[in-house]
Amino acid sequence: MKKLAAVFLAGIMCVSLAACGSSASDDAASTDTQTAAEETAEETEETADDAAAADTEEAADTAASGEVTTVTEGILTMGTNAAFPPYEYYEGDAIVGIDAEIAQAIAEKLGLSLEIVDMDFNSIITAVQSGKVDVGIAGMTVDPDRLENVDFTDSYATGVQVVIVPEDSEIASVDDLEGKLIGTQEGTTGWQYCSEDYGDDMVIPYTNGATAVQALLDGKVDCVVIDQQPALNFVEANEGLKILETEYAVEDYAIAVSKDNTGLRDAINTALNELIDDGTVQGILDKYITAE
Ligand code: ARG
Repeated sequence: MKKLAAVFLAGIMCVSLAACGSSASDDAASTDTQTAAEETAEETEETADDAAAADTEEAADTAASGEVTTVTEGILTMGTNAAFPPYEYYEGDAIVGIDAEIAQAIAEKLGLSLEIVDMDFNSIITAVQSGKVDVGIAGMTVDPDRLENVDFTDSYATGVQVVIVPEDSEIASVDDLEGKLIGTQEGTTGWQYCSEDYGDDMVIPYTNGATAVQALLDGKVDCVVIDQQPALNFVEANEGLKILETEYAVEDYAIAVSKDNTGLRDAINTALNELIDDGTVQGILDKYITAE
């Protein structure tokens, strides 16, 4: 009996919340009070959901009241590839880095907890599309091919594709890459551009940046094309490598979200822009990226 009363009360609270947002729920409120308590709870829940769906333009309000739809209720599930320091990497068993911290700050603003799923970079877009994860946050570049399959939020950082070579390499600039064997991270923009510019045969895809750099150290490729910040990390961690001064490409990093969840995309944009405006994002970037 006690439980039933609680369900009924919860129902009434839902009704009054929903009633603020839409006139349709006023009707629901008056009919529901005549039915059994449990039915009331069920129906009003639907009403509240409908109201939220109708209000996608008011994503900020939706987010603030914790009503975004996610793969697992109450959780923002992030797909990433944690071999990409300083954006995402392991510290013991934990995945840390710029993306992990920005995601945590966004999740907090949306009233969600954060769960990070590590996977091959090449699987992230599919995981977002198929609803395995809510978002792909992986130093991921906004690019036209990906935009056909997922939506991107506003950008939160700039990425630069650079070239890592052995210190004694004859490759002096990006103009010398013709005819060289290039190591890349599979499925990345670096891999894509190099394949277009120098042909598939000259480009070797590795599962992640660390394995690509290892191949360079082992003399299996002549250079590695990869994003600048991970490049700096890998060069610092390994003797005998350097980064060419000429940049290969400049790009925008953003968060991939399913095309079916524009409510979540809008809510993330609102949260992200608040975090950009109040300096949180810059603070996180500065914590991991030290100016030279
Ligand atoms: N910015 C590049 C891209 O989007 C590489 C990103 C790789 N990220 C990672 N977490 N491994 O294609």
